[in-house]
This record gives sequence, structure tokens and C-alpha cells, in this order.
Amino acid sequence: MNQTPIKRIGLLTGGGDCSGLNAVIRAVVRTAILKYQYEVIGFIGGYYGLYHNNYIKMDLSTVSGIFHQGGTILKNSNKDNLFSYRVRDEDGNYVKKDVSNVAYENLQKLGIDALVIIGGDGTLTSARDFARKGVKVVGIPKTIDNDVPATDITFGYRTALDHIMHALDAIHTTAFSHDRVMILEVMGRNSGWLALEGGLAGSADVILLPEIPYDINKVVAKIVERYNRGSKFSILCVSEGCRPIDGDVTVKKIVEESPDSVRLGGAGEQVAMVLEKILKPITGQEVRSTNLGYIQRGGVTNCFDRVISTRYGTYAVDMIASGEFGKMVAVKHDKMVPVPIEEVVGSGEVGETSHGGSKVVDPNGDLVQAAKCIGVVFGD
Ligand code: F6P
Repeated sequence: MNQTPIKRIGLLTGGGDCSGLNAVIRAVVRTAILKYQYEVIGFIGGYYGLYHNNYIKMDLSTVSGIFHQGGTILKNSNKDNLFSYRVRDEDGNYVKKDVSNVAYENLQKLGIDALVIIGGDGTLTSARDFARKGVKVVGIPKTIDNDVPATDITFGYRTALDHIMHALDAIHTTAFSHDRVMILEVMGRNSGWLALEGGLAGSADVILLPEIPYDINKVVAKIVERYNRGSKFSILCVSEGCRPIDGDVTVKKIVEESPDSVRLGGAGEQVAMVLEKILKPITGQEVRSTNLGYIQRGGVTNCFDRVISTRYGTYAVDMIASGEFGKMVAVKHDKMVPVPIEEVVGSGEVGETSHGGSKVVDPNGDLVQAAKCIGVVFGD
């Protein structure tokens, strides 16, 4: 591809934090400096920093000692879609405005030749829109939810799975000691990967996914069957996005200023309430729910995520050097490959946080089938 030589690149992290972000930042900065002698500018707070021209110059010492640490030294924001930004009008009312030109000019003034954007679908949608404006963009998919299409895995997912597995291991002791039904609610939005793989690893008896609406009576049948054969406790791993066959998802709150405003949460408590009412007269068991929450996003980055984050970061800079812009780094069959960002987030209107369709669990896929083979119930 014909291109002007790259001297200086920008870097930002958007969306919710997850473990492995710092490892990607370190890989980008090290590769840029050591392999290509590029200068690196890091914007603070994602697109917010790009809009407000809040940045730091990054060198090898900036990324020293951060490899294993969760979070992002560049800070995150999941509220700043610059193509549809909440600003106040003259009357003080909030209105949506396209302020992306301000960011574009900041990039020009700083002499940034290419921009690495690390984020989930919302952040990558804006990456697509900046690419359409002519910014040389390379995306890196980030989320614990593992729901970004076109890549086999996102970094941060496996560390989150470890947290779920350890939480389920821990919850087993109370479940066993008190002959209780214990529920662990996990994140994932409308994709059930965390609940499915975390539940499998933590030997949950019941796993409830957004992709498989559940019949509570099937869940009850499983718990009673276990009780009757002497296992007087049961463990449920419940995705925040699950829903009963005759009901809807459980919404925790609406974050007005966020482009994707719905925050799920409370499904575990909901299932616990319904379950206890039916179960108590049959087995006498109590039901308790724990929401694992933001623990899933934090903590020390695990081995897998340290390595995959390093591969994501280095490959992104290689893509800049070879002129592969408007694309996201993806993992396919354990190889890093470039895929057009439009293939990932769809080709909607500029400013629209469109979804190319989240990557969801296939109810008929190998993983669900393997779980069913060992007796896990999904409520279908
Ligand atoms: O997308 C990552 C995620 O942690 C989801 O699993 C969860 O639903 C959401 O972000 C929570 O968002 P917030 O940080 O705005 O509460």
C-alpha cells in the first residue's frame, strides 16, 4: 500500500477495563520503539482524552512493571462516542453532537500518523468511523465478554474465566456445608461465554445463558434429582443476560450518557427468589445468590492473557508498518490476522453504535453438547 512513512503513533483504550490491557499497551509501545523507532502518544481516558487533547508521551519506562497488572495505565471510558457526543445546548439541555472533528484536528496537530484503538464493539464502532474520516486506524478487540465477532478470542476473557472458576470452587464449600443451592451470577452482556466456560470449569450443575431461555421447572427437576440421590447441594452459574422462557432479561440500570445504555444485573437474585419458592416445600433447601461483578474484570493477568495480549499488541504495530489500516487484529486458529473493522461492527451510519452482531454461544455447538453429556442442565 502506498503510504507516507510513519513516525508517530497514538494509542488509546476504550470501553470497560479488563485484564491484559496493560500487557497490550506494553507490547504496542515496546514494538513501536524497539522494532520501528516510532514515537508513541497515549491518550488518557479513551476518546475523552482524544477530544480534550489529554495525552502522555510514552517510552519504555512508561510501560515498565505493568505487564501483569489489570486495568489500564491510560484509563478507560465507555461513555464517549465522539460522533454522537452528549453536550449541553444554550438552554443547558443535553443534546447529541458530532464532535469528531475536534479529535481529528488534535491528531493532525500532534502529527499522529496512525492510531491504535483498543476496545470492544462500541470503541471499535468509533474506530470504524474515524477510519472513514481518513484516520489510519488499527483496532484491537478487548472484552471479558469474548463477544467480539471475527476473532476466536479476546484478551481478558481467560483471566475472567479464572475468577469465575475460583469463585465457584469457593462457593462449593458453603453449598456443601449447608445443603444449599448456590447461584453465581457472572457478566457477559448478551453473550454466555463467561457463564458457559466458567460454569464448566467450576463444575456448575446448572448453567443459564442468554442464548438458551430457561424453563425454571427444568432447573428444579435437576436440583431435586440431585437431592434425591444424595447430593444435597447444587451450584448454578447464571449469566447476567439470561432470561426465562416466558420473561425478559434483568436490567440493573440505564446509564443515559452511555451509547449502549442498558446495564444488566440481578438475574441471579431473580432466579434465587423464584427457585426457593418452588424448592423449599420439596427439598427444604435455601437458595443464595452471589454476583461476582467487577472482580471478573480485574486482578493479575493470567498466563494465557499475557501472551495473547503481547501477540495482539505486536501484531497491531506490524499492521501499521505494513499499511493495513481500517482493520482489527483477530485471532483465527491461533494465528494473528487482520480483518476489516466493518466486518466486526457492521457498516452502519457514522455515529451509530451498530453491532455487526455479537459473537454468541451456539446452543447446538460442541461446548454446550459436552456440558450436556456430563449432566449439566441449561433449562431447555
Ligand atoms: O462488557 C464488559 C462488561 O463488564 C459486561 O460484562 C457488563 O455487562 C458491563 O461491561 C458493565 O458495564 P459498566 O462497567 O458500565 O457497569
